[in-house]
Amino acid sequence: MSPQDAAGQTAPATTAGLTVRSFWYVVCESHELGPQNVLSRKVLDEDLAIFRGPDGKPVALRDRCMHRAAPLSKGSRTPDGCLRCPYHGWTYDGEGEVVAVPCEKGQFKKGGIARRALVHEVCEQDDFVYVRVRDEDAPEKDGPADITPFAMPCYGDKGYTTVRLQNRMMNNVTNCAENFIDIPHTVFVHPVIFRDARDQKINAHIVRKNGEVHVNYEGETDNLGWFKWFLNPGGHKIQHTDSFFMPNVTSVSYVFGPKRHFIITSQSVPVTDEETLVYTDLTFNYGIFSWPARFIVRRQGQMVIDQDVEILGQQMDVIKKYGDKFAHTQADTIHIFVEQIRDALAEGQDPRTLPEKSRDITFWI
Ligand code: FES
Ligand SMILES: [Fe+2]
Repeated sequence: MSPQDAAGQTAPATTAGLTVRSFWYVVCESHELGPQNVLSRKVLDEDLAIFRGPDGKPVALRDRCMHRAAPLSKGSRTPDGCLRCPYHGWTYDGEGEVVAVPCEKGQFKKGGIARRALVHEVCEQDDFVYVRVRDEDAPEKDGPADITPFAMPCYGDKGYTTVRLQNRMMNNVTNCAENFIDIPHTVFVHPVIFRDARDQKINAHIVRKNGEVHVNYEGETDNLGWFKWFLNPGGHKIQHTDSFFMPNVTSVSYVFGPKRHFIITSQSVPVTDEETLVYTDLTFNYGIFSWPARFIVRRQGQMVIDQDVEILGQQMDVIKKYGDKFAHTQADTIHIFVEQIRDALAEGQDPRTLPEKSRDITFWI
């Protein structure tokens, strides 16, 4: 049961030593992991070999054979759902245990720590496969039970359609997440397609709370580039909110009048400190137009993301040379809040223990 404070409100569960390694990260879409596939992935610098075990559930092993360190992801699936190393054929089951060594034939015996690969935690949700990386020095230990994969908003809900994109950004998670909830860049990086500069005043209310940042915008009109004819043809008042959820998820929600809802949710998966794999769901409810609209949404969404891939790569090149000491405007308060949450995790502090903060800001685009 969650602890309750004196006022009877539920206080968040907190975990000592919470870090970015305590969380679940997307490693592939479910359909990419077919029964015979072995995928090679990297999360938080840990190399992974991912396959489906005998029961069809995903398995993620450290991508290193215990015998002579060949990459298991280059191996193959056996008919009984094990993974065979490509070098000398050692065969691993879904628990990472070696169950066959061909050159030992009848003398082979199971068991022993030297014959067990590091197995990471895996689960499947919203048609994504998630991994939580274990530590080598605590190979049996699960991460905190109160940390679960992020539920993708409205995914699979009645009336909603989702277009799913994957993109590689040569930058870190913090800068990627900040980009995805940054309005001022849109008029420079995505003019015509997304927004044009009009010197329009925007007010926003920002809250940092419980490891999350929520932004409510006021004053947004129909400045949505030429895509406006699709997004908001009726010219309805726009309700726009942006959110960040620790450690790596952003979600942008637009409600256009009573009938149209468009959500852009991005999971920024840390490959290394300088590389991020971004899974973006464009989820929308456009009534009878939802299904046919997915082609144009995919094309349009990818065009916008291509422009972000370019600017984020350029930003990281400069940071690598000259560092990331940033200067700020009021609009960057959102990013400062995101950085405070990620900085807390970097220090092993649970961001849910940070005091609640809120700010009203004004900027022009
Ligand atoms: S390196 Fe894997 S079986 Fe030899
Ligand atoms: Fe952008």
